[in-house]
Amino acid sequence: MTKNYTFSTLYTQIKAQKHDFWRSSLYGVLATLLLLPIPMLIPLLIDEVLLGHPGKMTEMISGVLGSSQVWVYITVILAMVLVLRLLAFYFNNTKTFYATKITEKISYLLRHRILHHLERVELSEYETLKSGGIASKTVQDVESVSGFAGQVVTTLLSASLMLVGIAAVMLWMNWVLALLVFVLNPFFLAFSKVLGRKTGELLRRQHEAYELYHELLAETLDLFVQVRASNQEHSFFGILQNLAKAIETASLEYGHKAAVAHSSSTLLTNVVVDIFRAMGIAAVAYSDLTIGMMIAFLFYLSTLLQPIQQLMGLVIAYQGTKPALERINTLLALSMEPHYPHKTNPFEDIKSTSIELKHISFNYSKGSQVLHDISLQARKGQKIALIGASGSGKTTIAQILVGFYPVHTGEILYGGVPIEQIGLPIVRENVALMLQQSLFFNDTIRMNLTLSKEKSDAAIYEALRAAQLEAFVRNLQEGLESRIGKNGIRLSGGQRQRLAIARLILSDPKIVIFDEATSALDNATEFHLYETLAPFLEGRTTVIIAHRTTTIKQADYIYLIEEGRIKAEGTYEELQKQGLIQEDFDVQ
Ligand SMILES: Nc1ncnc2c1ncn2[C@@H]1O[C@H](COP(=O)(O)OP(=O)(O)O)[C@@H](O)[C@H]1O
Ligand SMILES: [Mg+2]
Repeated sequence: MTKNYTFSTLYTQIKAQKHDFWRSSLYGVLATLLLLPIPMLIPLLIDEVLLGHPGKMTEMISGVLGSSQVWVYITVILAMVLVLRLLAFYFNNTKTFYATKITEKISYLLRHRILHHLERVELSEYETLKSGGIASKTVQDVESVSGFAGQVVTTLLSASLMLVGIAAVMLWMNWVLALLVFVLNPFFLAFSKVLGRKTGELLRRQHEAYELYHELLAETLDLFVQVRASNQEHSFFGILQNLAKAIETASLEYGHKAAVAHSSSTLLTNVVVDIFRAMGIAAVAYSDLTIGMMIAFLFYLSTLLQPIQQLMGLVIAYQGTKPALERINTLLALSMEPHYPHKTNPFEDIKSTSIELKHISFNYSKGSQVLHDISLQARKGQKIALIGASGSGKTTIAQILVGFYPVHTGEILYGGVPIEQIGLPIVRENVALMLQQSLFFNDTIRMNLTLSKEKSDAAIYEALRAAQLEAFVRNLQEGLESRIGKNGIRLSGGQRQRLAIARLILSDPKIVIFDEATSALDNATEFHLYETLAPFLEGRTTVIIAHRTTTIKQADYIYLIEEGRIKAEGTYEELQKQGLIQEDFDVQ
């Protein structure tokens, strides 16, 4: 089981990037320290130059430059301020660079983890997944989480430091005022937590609106032909239009509340600053605080706004990140295929091997029992056929053979070795299952045949020849590079099945299972195809699930399945004698 993704996971990931974190923090701290004296420098000139109270700063400048002219003081101080600002600008940018590096890395790691989990998701979970919704989660929610991490990296340390620094300076200037500022801070943070809770919930709704939209859009486009054939474009796109509208509503609500949250925090801080300004004036009037010091103090108060607002923003973002994490965790909670450690490989160095099912009983996760005590076998190189009415459980048997669904009662063995000891990847590498409906990528014939593995043209054409598709492909203007469209829509049903067979041949499996793989072909073509496939199938253990007598006739042994049970078994002749095979299987 993959563990949940939590704030502590996030913390560990930031910690894992210590170097960049410290670089980002170092530059952030440097920038903060450089910016810290700025509000004080110019106001000090008021006291020392304008109001005629010579002080340390003017003394120092005249000591170094030997001049005590007013314009010299002003120019020097201005120059110092500008230099400090430029340096801080540079350090801030560098800080942002490292922080972005961390943020993007966290996005990547999170997506990596989700993908890694999806790669091994159990088929029964996959069946009900909506791809559009997953896409939405891996984009929007991941961005929310990593964005928050970025904010933590950039602001937490430097904003806290700035706050402490400014407070220290203010404490030095006037401790009563400074203490008041301190007392107010926790109040600010509590306030932003309240604001954040509301926006967090609205952000979740916005993401959910996006998810619903992505789900239906992806599915509608995938099944567009069906939608059009049913003349339902209007209804489907009507729903999509409503979902698009729902995004507008949810985004507006969130956008509005987020703006209100932001401006509330600004308002609050501004009001507090106003109050402090008034108190500053009072302090000059009733104590020995100088005017220059008061102005400097007020500048600091305004500067104080920035880190306070940053910290408030962080608290608000934290509230929005919680629902994003919850949504991501729904993906990580999907159950995964059992992982069987690979111990033995019964397929190694041999042409083929035997198959055996022992007392298999099975039900899909939320259903009644589909298979009842099924035992069957195919010896090495033997061809067996499974026949039976639609819904009797043939496809289920085929899927169990390749471990698509874990079985809790009974055993599946290849070459006498249970699949739990072989490991599913090894089973699937050697046992090819050709489904009733083969699936294709919206890509070239070559890609669909090789699934991006390296194969020579000669090998590809040989496979096409065996599948009786060579002439067709050679006649195409772009040959192997021809695109076959969404799920092979540009091919006929028969061509699609032959393409799937060519793919199967190219993958050179040790065992082959055909699940009505040739049912879309007409009688004569199907018969002919198995004839041409004969050399390829020679010596490979084969399971054929089919209806037509011509196809089943070639099997060495036949199992008749009825309602998930083996009703009869034997050779074609034996079953025919018992009247279990009717010639009208032909007429499908
Ligand atoms: N993925 C699934 N989840 C739940 N039930 C399923 C699933 N696939 C098939 N079934 C059910 O299992 C039974 C056997 O189906 P299947 O093996 O496809 O039959 P056949 O291939 O012989 O036509 C049917 O009742 C079907 O509804
Ligand atoms: Mg079937």
